[in-house]
Amino acid sequence: MSGLLAAALGGAAGGLALVGIVIVVIVLCLQHRRRTSDSSESSSSGPALPESQGARCLTLEELNSATRNFSSVILIGHGMFGEVYKGLLQDGTMVAVKRRHSPPSQELIQEVNYLSSLRHRNLVNLLGYCQENGMQMLVYEYVPNGSVSTYLHGNSSAPGVRLEFKQRLSIAHGTAKGLSHLHSLTPPAIHMNFKTANVLVDEDFVPKVADTGIPGLLDRLGGTGPSSRISNDPFLDPRLKESTNFSIQSDVYSFGVFLVELVSGRRAVSDQSIIQWVQNFQESSDISAFADDRMTSGFTSESMKELLRLTSWCVNPLSEQRPSMSLVEAEIHRIREQEIRLTTVMTESTPTVTLGSQLFTTSR
Ligand SMILES: *[C@@H]1O[C@H](CO)[C@@H](O)[C@H](O)[C@H]1NC(C)=O
Ligand SMILES: *[C@@H]1O[C@H](CO)[C@@H](O)[C@H](O)[C@H]1NC(C)=O
Ligand SMILES: *[C@@H]1O[C@H](CO)[C@@H](O)[C@H](O)[C@H]1NC(C)=O
Ligand SMILES: *[C@@H]1O[C@H](CO)[C@@H](O)[C@H](O)[C@H]1NC(C)=O
Repeated sequence: MSGLLAAALGGAAGGLALVGIVIVVIVLCLQHRRRTSDSSESSSSGPALPESQGARCLTLEELNSATRNFSSVILIGHGMFGEVYKGLLQDGTMVAVKRRHSPPSQELIQEVNYLSSLRHRNLVNLLGYCQENGMQMLVYEYVPNGSVSTYLHGNSSAPGVRLEFKQRLSIAHGTAKGLSHLHSLTPPAIHMNFKTANVLVDEDFVPKVADTGIPGLLDRLGGTGPSSRISNDPFLDPRLKESTNFSIQSDVYSFGVFLVELVSGRRAVSDQSIIQWVQNFQESSDISAFADDRMTSGFTSESMKELLRLTSWCVNPLSEQRPSMSLVEAEIHRIREQEIRLTTVMTESTPTVTLGSQLFTTSR
């Protein structure tokens, strides 16, 4: 089990990983120093909604009627905070209600007010809360089309939508914007539990990052917080094994693991499998081996290579050397524009013209 991703991706690997990462970092730093400053400017004036929209305190009565008394029929998942129910408020808003057994706490209200101020188009926004009847409940906006996990790892009896490379770039870009917004705040908001299963998509495939700050909230409420995280969570920065100091850099690591899954279509199983992935990438010349072979409409090797390079940069074991989320966002944006440009040129030109780029079609 432990080598699932690594084994699937290819052969054994040697020890040039660190040297390679350092070179990649230097090259990308030189190439994109200017872009960083550009994008950090734009993200601070980003599309955040007014902070004054505090969280609503909902009554148990409202939530009972929204969720048909928390009927198991509309239980849609189990998150870190507790069971998740789908609901419909009186005013017509679809919501996801998270619920756990716990007495009311003033601390929760403060946290909820803070978390609900973190509004962005690429975040699942927290709308309100309720503390009644020995229960704590958080009310979020409902995101209809599920998690990116189910599209990548969903079982074959429910095949779902096939995500092509450009769609994956678009999902990666929107997701990066969500995280980048959190990190642009003063002080930065740290997600702490970023993973593919927490990237939800709406009906237009706009990604929305769920569960922001929940580990921190649970920690402050004295529940199961960061310190009790399972140490083999593949999305967790290996650095956090030394001290549970979540940082914007540990979010960047988690985002890198998300990119590995998004591009390969395979599940990351451990931090070892990520190390192996980086080694394989650095030693391999066959880029197509790293791509999900369900992307049947192909991709250019330029864009794929650049995205893989960015990915390996995000999962750099040295947290100080990882890129910022605003740089990651700008890079993915650039790669996506490039991919659109290259593939458009290709379809407009005659099919016999081969550009400098080699178009892969992975259905061989
Ligand atoms: C919820 O429970 C209350 C009290 O037990 C009951 O009166 C009401 O009909 C229930 N609502 C639904 C939608 O089941
Ligand atoms: C979103 O989900 C709905 C309901 O499952 C489905 O009908 C629709 O096709 C989905 N949208 C996309 C873009 O996959
Ligand atoms: C696969 O999908 C089917 C239908 O949605 C579901 O009943 C089944 O439990 C799933 N299997 C696994 C292993 O997730
Ligand atoms: C954890 O973070 C705090 C504040 O950022 C810092 O003061 C402390 O030295 C860090 N601890 C470790 C072990 O890195």
